[in-house]
Amino acid sequence: WGFYGHKTVALLASRYLLPETSVFVQTYLYRGQSIMDAAVWADRYAHIPLGRYSKTWHYIDARDDPPRVCEVNYDRDCAVAGGGCIISALVNMTARIQDESLPWAQRAQALRFILHFVGDIHQPLHTEHKSLGGNRIKVLFHGHEANLHSIWDSKIIEAVRGRPTERGIINLTNELQDRIEGGEYATEAKENWKSCLNTTAAEECALVWASGANKWVCDYVLKDEDLEGKELGGEYAEGAVPIIEKSIAQAGYRLAGWLNMLVVGKDGLD
Ligand code: ADE
Ligand code: ZN
Ligand code: ZN
Repeated sequence: WGFYGHKTVALLASRYLLPETSVFVQTYLYRGQSIMDAAVWADRYAHIPLGRYSKTWHYIDARDDPPRVCEVNYDRDCAVAGGGCIISALVNMTARIQDESLPWAQRAQALRFILHFVGDIHQPLHTEHKSLGGNRIKVLFHGHEANLHSIWDSKIIEAVRGRPTERGIINLTNELQDRIEGGEYATEAKENWKSCLNTTAAEECALVWASGANKWVCDYVLKDEDLEGKELGGEYAEGAVPIIEKSIAQAGYRLAGWLNMLVVGKDGLD
């Protein structure tokens, strides 16, 4: 995701943190740094020479065959030239944030990675190998050239909600929170989004999350096999908005549950 997705995931998660978890998170943020700023750090880091090693941690390239087959297979898909993928990264960072023998800076970095990766693992194209997660599919968006990946990361959500300003992030977070608490996501959140929050089985849960996102690749994102060159600002974007918003809500809710499990040993989502 871009700023809109990641910052909303983080702010939404902050609404469901148990008091003890909030204190823990604060302890590992820099002075004056918001949880939203911390959640977008990993993309900047991946693009500086020092952090290049972490680039492959932002996705898992499922070698499946959408729209016929959508399937994430950890053993088949995660070994990206030995560098690891979003699932192994989440597993490792989940262990590192709990490792009291590590210095503060290392645990703080592990937190920033977790805040970011729980977001990215819910972006359908961050679970798909085809055309480099859509980066190589050239499309039009409101008459401008774009690639499929970038419209899912940010262009579609920004077309309906504007630039990712603080006000905009707060408004979207409020709306998603309402849908989770008694609105259209309520049943699913309680019955399904909560079902895998076992930090001692991090690999299994991260695979469940990635598989859910990857399912959208067949069901919507690449359902039309020939998107190349097409204008996607109309009907396609309209159908994508509810998927993007729900995925962001799911990520925020699960991120809170994950952090609560890590710090308090219960998800705190009652
Ligand atoms: N680079 C290679 N595969 C990718 C993916 N699925 N998402 C983002 N960047 C990628
Ligand atoms: Zn992306
Ligand atoms: Zn990322």
